[in-house]
Amino acid sequence: MMENDILKVIVSAKEIDEICARLGKKITNDYKGKTPIVIGLLKGCQPFMSDLIKHINTYMSIDYMSVSSYDGMSSTGSITIKKDIETDVRGRDVIIVDDIIDTGVTLLNITNLFKERHVKSIKTVCLLDKPEGRKVDLKADYAGLIVPKEFVVGYGLDYNGLYRNLPYIGILKREVYEK
Ligand code: IMP
Ligand code: MG
Repeated sequence: MMENDILKVIVSAKEIDEICARLGKKITNDYKGKTPIVIGLLKGCQPFMSDLIKHINTYMSIDYMSVSSYDGMSSTGSITIKKDIETDVRGRDVIIVDDIIDTGVTLLNITNLFKERHVKSIKTVCLLDKPEGRKVDLKADYAGLIVPKEFVVGYGLDYNGLYRNLPYIGILKREVYEK
């Protein structure tokens, strides 16, 4: 059973609901009178983005992109776009949604990419933030919860492609990695 692989639940489904409501309310306030485009980074942004946008009460469009990041030679790493958005973002207010910020490499590169596309504004939302993992200067504009530098799964976050469908976030048992 998938659930038996979890050592400890660190964010319950109820807490996730509360985070989505709180962030959604804040974003609603900040984007009054605007029509932002909310862009989710696949696949981890699911199901966070679906829940979050239900709490954002303004006109908006949504889109998705898929990138992989390489935390290689340069300190800022780099990203490769596997699937790009389908919307013209020039002059738009863009909100990027990701599951978690660790090194910050992904979101820093995405932010720079969208600045080159001449957006009007760009902000970032993440459900979880691991500030201890940071390697670049990047702060999320909206962060749900600060978590310790530990590998977590569930609610969009995966280990080898699995566990994204757990309705909560938990720490995997050591034997799962060592199996
Ligand atoms: P970074 O901020 O560029 O290091 O990368 C963030 C991405 O790494 C996230 O979008 C996740 O896909 C992945 N990631 C980082 N920490 C975790 C974790 O604890 N569990 C699962 N995925 C993680
Ligand atoms: Mg991800």
